[in-house]
Amino acid sequence: MATNKTFTMIKPDAVENGHIGAILEKISASGFRIVAMKLTQMTKADAQTFYAIHKERPFFPELVEYMTRGPIVAAILEKDNAVEDFRTLIGATNPDDAAEGTIRKMYATSLGENAIHGSDSDENAAIEGAFHFSGREMF
Ligand code: RTP
Ligand code: MG
Repeated sequence: MATNKTFTMIKPDAVENGHIGAILEKISASGFRIVAMKLTQMTKADAQTFYAIHKERPFFPELVEYMTRGPIVAAILEKDNAVEDFRTLIGATNPDDAAEGTIRKMYATSLGENAIHGSDSDENAAIEGAFHFSGREMF
């Protein structure tokens, strides 16, 4: 059964390029309510744990370097069908394949540096939200 929360990060490239405001505006305008949010910077250990599913992939060292090189905005979002609707809003992993109007089409620079993360399942949304936020921050 689908739950109503997902987890996102505005990634270092989008923060560096000054897109925090525009991306949050688009997220809000698309019907998501922000239930927790912070500007933070991941350590190498954080990024290795967060993206552990990709640890055998050739791009893993590059991914860890990228995700730790500057601040990110981490947030928990609420909406009906949040996980699926947010993945639709951000678009395909590679911005060249992303639909017009999606966040990655508008703000990502490459496959590796693609502006934003969205959880890919309800289970991962819960794990990833808990990784970045303690329970008492989620109001
Ligand atoms: P995310 O987890 O960040 O929301 O992205 P995703 O599900 O669309 O894509 P995923 O396959 O989970 O890949 C995680 C992130 O790794 C980087 N990547 N680089 N250079 C490459 O070939 C490559 N492939 C993936 C991207 O930052 C991608 O979002
Ligand atoms: Mg993913």
